[in-house]
Amino acid sequence: MLASCFRRRLDLLTPGRRLVSTAANASASTSTRRKRVVFSGIQPTGIPHLGNYLGALSNWKRLQDEAAPEDVLIFSVVGWHALTMPQNPAELRQARASMMAVLLAMGLDPRRSVIFHQDHNPDHTELAWVFNCITPIGKLRRMTTWKSKLVTARNANDETEVDESLLHVGLFDYPVLQAADILAYKATHVPVGEDQQQHLELCRDIADSFNRTFKERSPLFPLPQHVFTPQKRILSLRDSSAKMSKSAPDPKSRILLTDTTSEISKKIAGAQTDSDPSVTYDPVSRPGLANLLTIFAACTETSPEDLARKYDGSSFAKLKKDAAEAVNAFLSGPRAEFAKLKDETGYLDEIARTGAEKARDISGKTMSEVRRRVGLA
Ligand code: TRP
Repeated sequence: MLASCFRRRLDLLTPGRRLVSTAANASASTSTRRKRVVFSGIQPTGIPHLGNYLGALSNWKRLQDEAAPEDVLIFSVVGWHALTMPQNPAELRQARASMMAVLLAMGLDPRRSVIFHQDHNPDHTELAWVFNCITPIGKLRRMTTWKSKLVTARNANDETEVDESLLHVGLFDYPVLQAADILAYKATHVPVGEDQQQHLELCRDIADSFNRTFKERSPLFPLPQHVFTPQKRILSLRDSSAKMSKSAPDPKSRILLTDTTSEISKKIAGAQTDSDPSVTYDPVSRPGLANLLTIFAACTETSPEDLARKYDGSSFAKLKKDAAEAVNAFLSGPRAEFAKLKDETGYLDEIARTGAEKARDISGKTMSEVRRRVGLA
């Protein structure tokens, strides 16, 4: 189980920005505040790197810690979405299990949040079918994600070169399944990055369209809101014109949750900077140095500007040494927890099983209402 000291450490390290009302201010406004249902999903892409960690994952943890007692939090590893791109089955199996371990290692608490595999709950695909029948093709055509995924997968230069004969129905339909993920739980709040905003707009459209088509005294679905999750843009350590990425060929360009202390130190020591010896935070003209300061700041709850002032006059070697120590201190708790959990398959399976049961309890109620409204029950 997660050692509570890690939890406390993460609490200290994550910035105190409120994404969801805290228990304290919720009780002050119980008359106006309604219960929130938070839902989010993550693709099983294997071991996360620092950019993933400082993005979606630490935001989920913060949402969990700041939620009011009556709020429901649901986090899912979305296996069915992974199938929309070609996968190696053995690797997917591994990545799917690792992602569950990662969520627990970084402090999501299965007693507080529902944590489960999307593919353990058939209500998602069933509801997606119902939504397919009320979603115009034209709306999906306007989504940009399938285009960019095809561009990356086929090595095309831009979206005008995308060959639609290679577009599978599943990838095209990805956002409808995502809407079903959210609405199966009647989620009211969805923390996702900016790149997912168009999917959330489609989800609201679908909810609205269902509510109008199958109108009864009250609408069935809420129109879920985007919870803005401040995403830190973490760049490749080797090429600051690109984001840190799992698929970049150079492993030294990224820091993984599983990297050892010495690997982290080496990667940071080799991080791209520039020849100006002063230390300033200037993401436009000094992106490599700014990236280093952003990473350092995110791990120590300071601002990159403050760090630049503090280190101006020091050598890059000193800055890198201290940054590496900070990253190590930040990752060491979750890394140790992940190392402990990753092979505890019995425990992980049990968490996934009970998570899916809780998820199905909620979504099953929605599906009964859906079936009745559309005339299938
Ligand atoms: N599409 C999301 C992504 O790629 C993952 C996702 C699937 C999701 N279903 C979701 C996110 C439902 C939020 C809500 O990051």
